[in-house]
Amino acid sequence: MKRIGIFTSGGDAPGMNACIRAAVRTALANGLEVYGIYRGYLGMIEGDIVPLQSSDVSNIIQRGGTILKTARSDEFRTPEGRSKAAENLKKFGIEGLVCIGGDGSFKGASVLYEEHGIKTIGAPGTIDNDLYGTDSTIGYDTAVNTVVEAVDKLRDTAASHNRLFIVEVMGRDAGFIALRSGIACGAEAILVPETPTYIDGLIQKLREGWSRKKHSSIVIVAEGDESGGAYQVADAVKKNFDKYDVRVTILGHIQRGGSPSAYDRVLASEMGYAAVKGLISGKYNVMVGRQGREIVYVPFEKAIKHNKELNKYLLEIAETLSR
Ligand code: F6P
Repeated sequence: MKRIGIFTSGGDAPGMNACIRAAVRTALANGLEVYGIYRGYLGMIEGDIVPLQSSDVSNIIQRGGTILKTARSDEFRTPEGRSKAAENLKKFGIEGLVCIGGDGSFKGASVLYEEHGIKTIGAPGTIDNDLYGTDSTIGYDTAVNTVVEAVDKLRDTAASHNRLFIVEVMGRDAGFIALRSGIACGAEAILVPETPTYIDGLIQKLREGWSRKKHSSIVIVAEGDESGGAYQVADAVKKNFDKYDVRVTILGHIQRGGSPSAYDRVLASEMGYAAVKGLISGKYNVMVGRQGREIVYVPFEKAIKHNKELNKYLLEIAETLSR
């Protein structure tokens, strides 16, 4: 393999730049040429592809977002779109790809291999942490820290006004951000898609807290929770428990931005390095994962199955400590 391409795809995540930097420099150190593909599969279809040198990735390890930009491409979902992408890669002499993204991006890479034989290795870049086979995805730690910082501020005003804040965090299919940030913030309740949500139980808990003179509370809701989200939870609480003045905060896309944490920078560096090393040694259709201290390569079909479980021990801790 002489020349590889690198791209970011799907939702951005803090640490993607650190991963790009690591992949580019590892490729160059191993005698490969490396090309950056802008805007993910969209740029692949449009031929938005440029050579990258070491200096192109200077001074980016600390920056959020992705210098290669990212997109979701409907055209790539069609066989015609994928043919155009494959033609462009051949035109540029690109023999292997590093894809930094989430499940949709890895699905796309698998189809590109089936149809056109293009070999891709993945690095998990998503704040949601919803990829099986890695303890943590690039961006997850930073997103959790962003939530914690915001909720600490909400606590101050909640306590001053004796209010209940229902805070919605990202995670359309997964409660990883909600669970970890909820424990870190000492949330009174954490609602996640992976476990059933009993609004009656939540109200009972708030009532008990109130009788113990707990007059301000934080409830964290993952956006994919079966309750429907923070506004629905707030309405249900208001109807059934009138002691609290209730406020809703949707944290939204601030969770996707910001300078990556030191943890994410190191993880992203390890993963970018391992992705290129993996490609060189003939691996493809696999995602780089980190399990404990080990770097592993997980087949795409396993990584994207949405069967990564929330840590039961953490769920138990959250429940015990929130009483
Ligand atoms: O990056 C994943 C994610 O944060 C989900 O939790 C969320 O539902 C989604 O992205 C929203 O992304 P967008 O606004 O880019 O469609």
